[in-house]
This record gives sequence, C-alpha cells and structure tokens, in this order.
Amino acid sequence: MSQPDNIFLPHEVEVLSATMMTATEKHFTLRMKDGSRFVYDPGQIVEAGLFGFGEIPLGLSSSPTVEDSFELVVRKAGKVSTALLTLEKGDIMWIRGPLGHGFPMDDLKGQDVLIVAAGLGLCPTRSLIRYIMDRRSEFNKFTLFFGARDPSQQLFTADLSAWRCSVDVDYQETVDHPDESWKGNVGVITSLFAKCGELLPTTRVIICGPPVMYKFVLRELDKIGIPHDRIYVDLERRMKCGLGKCGHCQINNIYTCKDGPVLRYSDIETLEEAI
Ligand SMILES: Cc1cc2nc3c(=O)[nH]c(=O)nc-3n(C[C@H](O)[C@H](O)[C@H](O)COP(=O)(O)OP(=O)(O)OC[C@H]3O[C@@H](n4cnc5c(N)ncnc54)[C@H](O)[C@@H]3O)c2cc1C
Ligand code: FES
Repeated sequence: MSQPDNIFLPHEVEVLSATMMTATEKHFTLRMKDGSRFVYDPGQIVEAGLFGFGEIPLGLSSSPTVEDSFELVVRKAGKVSTALLTLEKGDIMWIRGPLGHGFPMDDLKGQDVLIVAAGLGLCPTRSLIRYIMDRRSEFNKFTLFFGARDPSQQLFTADLSAWRCSVDVDYQETVDHPDESWKGNVGVITSLFAKCGELLPTTRVIICGPPVMYKFVLRELDKIGIPHDRIYVDLERRMKCGLGKCGHCQINNIYTCKDGPVLRYSDIETLEEAI
C-alpha cells in the first residue's frame, strides 16, 4: 500500500480468517479490500476500528515477508476491542497505518539477536520472529524467550510447536503457573537466562511484554554486559491519533506512536515513566 494522501483516512480491510486463540484473544488474517498490498515493517502498528465504536492501536503480528495478507491479534479489553472480536470471515475492519517505527532491521542484520517476549508481547515480536525465520541467513545466532501466565494463555501455539523443534532458534519458554500437562520451565521469564546458550555482549536485544517485566530483564542484560544502545524496548502507551498530534502517548519529548513503539533503550533510560 502506498502512503495514504490523508493520514487520518482509514482503509477498508477484509477479514480472511478469524480464530479465537485463547478465551480472550482473536487472531485475524486480513487483506486490503481494494486489492493493494499492505506494506509495513516488523514492529509497526495500525489503528484498527469500526465506525460507531472508535479505533485502537494494535501491533502487526505477521511478517512482511508474506505479501498477500497481514495479521492482527485483538485481546478483549473494552468497547472497541470487544466490537472487533465480533468480526468473522468476510466482515470488514478499518485500519490506518502502518504507523510508527518498528524494529531496527539494519542494526539486527548480521548480529546475534535475543527476543524477550511475554504475554501479548508475542504479537508484535512475532512479526520479527517470522521475518528472521524466513530470512535466517541474514541474521546470526537467534535466541527467543517466551513467557505466559499459564499454558492456556500461550498464543500462536502452532508457531511455538515449530520453534520448539527448530534448529534455527534457541527457543526457551516458561509459564508462571503450570497445569498437569505442562512439562516445561516454571517461573518468571528471567529464569530462562540460565537455560539458553551463551549470550554475548554484542547481542542485539528486543524486549516486549508487561511493563513490570522490563526492569528485571534489563538487570540480567547488565550482568551479561550488553550496552544499552544494543537493547530495544517495544513500549505500550495509551494512544489516540497514532500520529504525534494529540499527545496521549507522550513521554517527555518522545511520542511513543511516532518515534516508537520500538525505542532504543539508551535513548529513553533517563526519562521518568519510560520503563
Ligand atoms: C503500541 C501498542 C500495541 C498494541 N498491540 C496490541 C495488540 O497487538 N493486540 C491487542 O489486543 N492489544 C494491543 N494493544 C492494546 C490495545 O490497544 C488496547 O487493549 C485497546 O486500546 C483497548 O481499547 P478498548 O476500547 O477495547 O478498551 P477501553 O479500555 O474501553 O479503551 C478506551 C480507550 O483507551 C485507550 N487504551 C486503553 N487501553 C490501552 C492500552 N493498553 N494501550 C493503548 N491504548 C489503550 C484506547 O485509546 C481506547 O480507545 C496495543 C497497544 C499499543 C499502545
Ligand atoms: S497517540 Fe497521539 S501523539 Fe501519540
């Protein structure tokens, strides 16, 4: 899709498939209604909505290496997300975007990469994970941590099964609360640092998950000696316009929607309320 003339104008997209992944999250595969290609970078966001309800920011969860469709995941939260969850195959959704700055692909290529994703944080990072897996030779060693509250909260279970037996990624996972079927690691996501292969100070790191997680992961990265300019955080803030106009998402002089949502940690670590 070329850059729209009017950045406030939403575009009509058709639901190709809609599947409940958990009790509260629905996975949508979509395509532009006018048949154009939706062009975006891993880590970018869209404002998705329905007339009469409003719009909400969502991370793109597919990789741009797949060109004929794109994917979003909607978690039931309030008015807009609940309305979006009613959509089924053949229905119409409206989106503005792609918006913001995604993952720093130029800095990641040719490097060791560690992605630390927890909960809904797997949705935007899946865009990058799938990109790396599709273009594996462009990246060096790839390590992926995924944490969920319990096994029923795990997202993209088909992907998880594939990553578990892939030689292309050192995939480590954990849950806070196991059930009878769970055979894997139990504990917070930082417990996975003791389980994975060696991580070097040159590793590029992406962190995306609930706000409480960031400072604990950053502490582990400091122990390894990874400089803060090699660490990128994907931040979630209340958003409205998604365009740097309304100030809803502002942290000091940074607009999370426009300058982020992916930001270099060294650029924001001194800002109060950033992490
Ligand atoms: C960068 C980014 C990426 C996101 N990616 C996803 C995703 O992939 N999947 C997903 O399900 N959710 C995602 N969210 C969260 C999602 O935007 C909120 O759950 C949603 O805005 C809630 O809106 P609501 O109308 O359903 O709920 P209400 O609570 O009724 O929200 C009212 C309004 O508050 C704002 N708001 C409320 N909660 C949030 C929130 N957590 N973040 C931002 N604005 C909020 C919105 O402007 C919304 O219109 C993302 C948020 C951000 C900022
Ligand atoms: S959401 Fe309006 S300035 Fe960022």
